[in-house]
Amino acid sequence: MEKTDIHIIGLGNLGSAFLEGLMTSNKEHSIKVYELDTSVLEVYEKKYPENDYFNSFDEFKSGVLILCVKPQSINEIFVQIKDKIHEGVLICSPVAGLDIDHIEKSISNKIIRIMPNLLIRNNKGFIPYSKNYENDYLDFIQSTLNHLGRTKEFSEQYFPVITALSGSGPAWFFLLSNELINAGNKLGLSNQESEILVNEIIKGLPELISDDVTYPDLISKVKSPKGTTEAGLNSLKNDSFDTIILNAIEKATQRSIELSKELKSE
Ligand SMILES: NC(=O)c1ccc[n+]([C@@H]2O[C@H](COP(=O)([O-])OP(=O)(O)OC[C@H]3O[C@@H](n4cnc5c(N)ncnc54)[C@H](OP(=O)(O)O)[C@@H]3O)[C@@H](O)[C@H]2O)c1
Repeated sequence: MEKTDIHIIGLGNLGSAFLEGLMTSNKEHSIKVYELDTSVLEVYEKKYPENDYFNSFDEFKSGVLILCVKPQSINEIFVQIKDKIHEGVLICSPVAGLDIDHIEKSISNKIIRIMPNLLIRNNKGFIPYSKNYENDYLDFIQSTLNHLGRTKEFSEQYFPVITALSGSGPAWFFLLSNELINAGNKLGLSNQESEILVNEIIKGLPELISDDVTYPDLISKVKSPKGTTEAGLNSLKNDSFDTIILNAIEKATQRSIELSKELKSE
């Protein structure tokens, strides 16, 4: 089987998650990684010597180019790479706020916009995508993205809220877990004891979740009338937990929309 070139620019949080996730793929990839920080390159060069590592750009002749750099760096990267990308190369962008029509101003290639989260590192991600071409060019969705997690096509107009819910999603659960640990700690447990309790819940929860069970159903299985869970849930309701969450997701969505405007006005 012919190997597909996968070029990953940026080996930060998401780029390294892509790399780790792809290393367990059965698909024959030829992975080329581009990162400015040579100490980071050295770590991965030792770990996965079968890949190619660079700290500058040459021609991108074929395959898929995955842009794992911060939104603030992307316009500068386009200036550096746009004349080096051959027309058959598929551009894959997870960059928050970067609209397909903005990329099209610099590069006239096929483009897939995705919004994964860090769970792709363990091939447990969910990858919403939107694209400017028909079918599955280079079999990228079927053979590569589907290996990193579940995929689903969305209209691009929903990317700001998708970014807030899914891209940033792990952070909401990490914050909630941290606050639960702090609460246990304040109410007498050691930090370590509180952490074990919360971590074990988090690890076990996936077993309970499935596509045909709703969260209200799951909550009703935990609470009993006039019991401890109900007391806590009522307190959350009185403190407008729903409004707190809605505000946070609205702020994150708004930031994504602002980022998009900032990128277009640079
Ligand atoms: N993290 C997430 O969970 C997540 C989820 C969805 C989408 N995203 C998107 O993914 C992108 C990357 O996010 P991140 O969290 O991975 O950021 P990050 O940790 O800052 O990683 C970006 C990496 O790109 C490197 N880089 C910058 N300019 C470069 C260049 N010219 N050539 C090669 N490498 C270069 C940076 O190196 P230096 O540090 O040396 O500059 C850094 O290692 C962002 O656009 C973000 O919106 C992230």
